[in-house]
This record gives sequence, structure tokens and C-alpha cells, in this order.
Amino acid sequence: MVLNFQKDISLRTYNTFGIDVKSKKFIGIQSTDVLKAVLAENQGAQVLLLGGGSNLLLTKDFDGLTIRIENRGIEILKEDEYGARIKVAAGENWHDFVLWCLKKDFGGVENLALIPGSVGAAPIQNIGAYGVELSQVFESCEAMSRETGEIKTFNKTECEFGYRNSIFKNTLKEQYIITSVEFNLTKAPHQINTSYGGLSEKIESKSPSIQTVAQTVIEIRSAKLPDPRHIGNSGSFFKNPVLGSEQFAALQQQYPNLPHYPDQKGKVKIPAAWLIDYLGFKGYRKNDTGVHQNQALVLVNYGNASGAEIKKLAQQIKDKVLENFKIDLEFEVNIL
Ligand code: EPU
Repeated sequence: MVLNFQKDISLRTYNTFGIDVKSKKFIGIQSTDVLKAVLAENQGAQVLLLGGGSNLLLTKDFDGLTIRIENRGIEILKEDEYGARIKVAAGENWHDFVLWCLKKDFGGVENLALIPGSVGAAPIQNIGAYGVELSQVFESCEAMSRETGEIKTFNKTECEFGYRNSIFKNTLKEQYIITSVEFNLTKAPHQINTSYGGLSEKIESKSPSIQTVAQTVIEIRSAKLPDPRHIGNSGSFFKNPVLGSEQFAALQQQYPNLPHYPDQKGKVKIPAAWLIDYLGFKGYRKNDTGVHQNQALVLVNYGNASGAEIKKLAQQIKDKVLENFKIDLEFEVNIL
């Protein structure tokens, strides 16, 4: 098998932050056979795995091999009057998959419209928005061991999903490459979820279609979140912190307007965006680096920011939040 590695190429168009760093070696992968061969030939090499490049901040040139997953295909495995099982190749674009589902009238992913990135990356951080998480429609995924090239199927329990979290970010970090994902989707009448504040307020109909829900999500997201094709960004840069009830109560006394959402086991999730906004960072800009003017959780590259500059701003925000609120924010974005 002839493997077409490219040398010293810019990764600028392969990451949604639009950071211009070089990778020493690069290959786009269209099939699992090629992936297996590439891994076998590059055992021990430093590997950067790219899907949509939408949850990644690159801070320096990469001396190893960048593998970009580009396999395609959406397959209906089975279908009855209640629903369908769909298998999707990891390299498919997430939002294109959502649009495909809307066209077929398969329900379950409509709240997740317009999330940037690839299908294969979605389980890694258990993408979520507007009251829905990937784990709710996930059946299983196939992933290739980086060491042996063998493909293993992971069911939902094995993925250990949590808030923006899974086993692939923890004990199996950098050990597997997701090659496809299977979803369980519904057929009409769909279970609609508009519990998330802004969503139900914007939808007039009491029983909206999944297409209406998706359209509304698209409108809300487009108004709040910058389009990476125009302004480089990686969505939420920080995770929303989850506090114990005592810590939350103390904070709420000091800040009665602090929005909050109940979380598991009596804990309380609060929006990091509110904390960052409160500290006056919203709309902040220095050179080409900044905090988006409509969503304080999103850091942006207005053109030629370096990854190091964005990381510096992220650290500055993290320090200020810790100093003021005694909350140590976690990065949601992977920094390399
Ligand atoms: N808020 C502010 N200032 C801001 C923005 C928000 O004070 O600049 C406050 C508001 O009170 C608002 C609350 O924060 O009610 C929540 O804001 P928003 O609805 O925008 O949601 P978020 O908690 O900031 C999360 C996800 C987003 C997802 C939205 C909608 C995380 C880290 N982020 O953001 O996901 O789209 O909810 O469900 O959980 C992503 O992960 O990249 C992402 C964009």
C-alpha cells in the first residue's frame, strides 16, 4: 500500500481556531485499512489525531505525524416503525449528519445542530447542547487500537460518559482512534426536548417538529457563537464548573444573581460564562486575541493570533476567576 505522507504542511485550515502551525508529517485517512497501515508504519511516532479540529488549541509546530480522519459514509443498519439504528463513519461532519437526520425525519440529534467537529470526535467529549447530550442517542462506537491496529467495539457503558467527558479522555486517552459511531434515533412521533431555557421561549408551537427545534437551535447558536469560518474559535473554551451545595450556597449569598442548574448528586452547575462576564472580560481584545462579545465562554482568533497568545489569555481568565470566586476553571479545549 502506498501511503501519501505530506511534509511540513500548515495546519491552519485543519483547526477551527485557524492557528498557523506546521506539522512535520501529515496524512488524511479515508479507510480503516489505510489507518491500520499508517499506524503500523509509524509505531512509536508522536501522533496528533485530527477530526474536525474544533476542540483544539495548537500552540507550536508539531514535530510528529498528524493523522486526519476523513472516512465517509452513513448507513441505516435497521429500521422499524419506532426508530432506526444508524452507523456513521468518524470522518463525517457532525452538522451534516444532523441535517441528514432531519431530512429523513430521524429524531434525537436536533438539539445538537451546528456543533462544529466530526462524528468521530463527538463521543470523546460527549458533545452536548440545549439539554441533550450525545450519550442519549449513542449505541456504540468502533475504535482502532493505536498499538495493535485492532478494532474494538465500545458500548455505551464502556464509554463511561460524563459531562463533556468519556473514557477516551481518561484511562484510554490517546490509545484508540474512533472509526465509526452507531446511533439509535427515533421516528415520529418524536420525543421533543425544549426544557432548556432559551429554547422553549423561542418556540411557539406546543408540539414542534424536530426540524423546528433544529432551526431554533441554529438561530440561537448563530446569534451567540462566532462562525469559525469567519472568526477562529473552538466553542466553549472552559467547562462549566460543578460545585458542592455548600460552596454554591456561599457563592450565591455573595452573588444573588448567579444563574445555576441542578446537577447530579445534589451538586450545582454554574455558567463559567457568567463568572468571566462578571469580571469584565466579555468583548475584551488584545491584538488578534479576544473574548467573544456575545458569549464570554468563547475565546477567539481575529486573524493572526498565535496559540500561545490565546493560551495566555485563557490562563489570565482562569487566574482571575480563581482569585475572585475561588473556582478553578477547567479547559474544555485540548491544548497542544
Ligand atoms: N452568560 C453570561 N454571559 C455570557 C454568556 C452567558 O452571563 O457572555 C450566562 C447567562 O446567564 C446564561 C448562562 O450563562 O443564561 C448560560 O449561557 P449559555 O446558554 O450560552 O450556555 P453555556 O453554559 O455558556 C453551554 C455549553 C455550550 C452549549 C450551550 C447551550 C459548556 C461548556 N458549554 O454553554 O457548548 O452550546 O450550553 O446548551 O457546557 C461547547 O461545548 O463548545 C458549547 C458551545
